Amino acid sequence: NARPLVIAVDGPAAAGKGTLARRLAAALDLPYLDTGLLYRAVGRRVLDRGLDPRDVVVAEAEARAMTAEDLARTDLRGPAADMAASAVAAIPAVRAALLDWQREFGRRHGAVMDGRDIGTVVFPDAPIKLFVTAGAKERARRRWAELQARGVAADLDQVEAELRARDAQDAGRSVAPMKPAEDATVLDTTALDAEAAYAAALRLVRARMATA
Ligand code: CDP
Ligand code: CDP
Repeated sequence: NARPLVIAVDGPAAAGKGTLARRLAAALDLPYLDTGLLYRAVGRRVLDRGLDPRDVVVAEAEARAMTAEDLARTDLRGPAADMAASAVAAIPAVRAALLDWQREFGRRHGAVMDGRDIGTVVFPDAPIKLFVTAGAKERARRRWAELQARGVAADLDQVEAELRARDAQDAGRSVAPMKPAEDATVLDTTALDAEAAYAAALRLVRARMATA
C-alpha cells in the first residue's frame, strides 16, 4: 500500500503559496491545508485575552485549547493577526502542540500543505517539496492588492516593512526556521503571474511523480 502523497509548499509571506497549493490540490484531488491558519488562530486567541503573543505559557495553553471553529474565524488576517501568528510560531511548545495534528492530517489521505516548515520539519520525507518565493517588493504589492480588494486601506511601504519584519522573525527563530529543505525546488515567482507559477509548479510536480 503506497503512502498517501504529501506535497510541501513553503516560502515567505505573500509569495503565492496558498493560491498555488490550493490549485495543485484541486488538480491532484488531494486535501489542502493552510498551516498558517493554525498559528493565526492561536495568535488570535491570545489577542482575545488581551495578552502578549510572546508569552510562552499563555501561547502554549491557547495552542492546546484551539478548536476547529477557531480556524473558521474571519478575523485571522490583517497586520495584528500576522504579527501575533509569527510571535506564537517562534515558541517551541506551540509548534509541538500543532505538529501531530498536521501530521495526522497529511497521513490520512495525503495533502498539499503550505507553510514555512512543511518540507523541513512536518514532512521531511515528502517526495515533492516546493519553496515558493518572490522579491519582497513584489510580495508587498501582492499583499497590498489583496487588502485593497477586501476594502482595507493600507500603505504599501508599511505593508512591505511589516512583511520584511515577519520574514526576518520567521527565518531567524531557532525552532523550525523558514528555509528551503535541501531537496526542495525553489520557484521564484517575482516575474510570474499566478497562472504561470501554477503551470511551472505543475510541470515540476509531474516530473517528480514520473520519477518517484
Ligand atoms: O499563501 P501566501 O501568503 O504565500 O500567498 P497567497 O495568499 O496565495 O496570496 C498571493 C497573492 O498574490 C494572491 O492575491 C494571488 O492572486 C497573487 N499572486 C500569486 O499568488 N502568484 C503569483 N505568481 C502572482 C500573484
Ligand atoms: O499568508 P502568509 O504567508 O502571510 O502567512 P501564513 O502562511 O498564514 O503564516 C502566518 C505565520 O504563521 C507566519 O508568519 C509564520 O510565523 C507562521 N507559520 C509557521 O511558523 N509555520 C507554518 N508552517 C506556517 C505558518
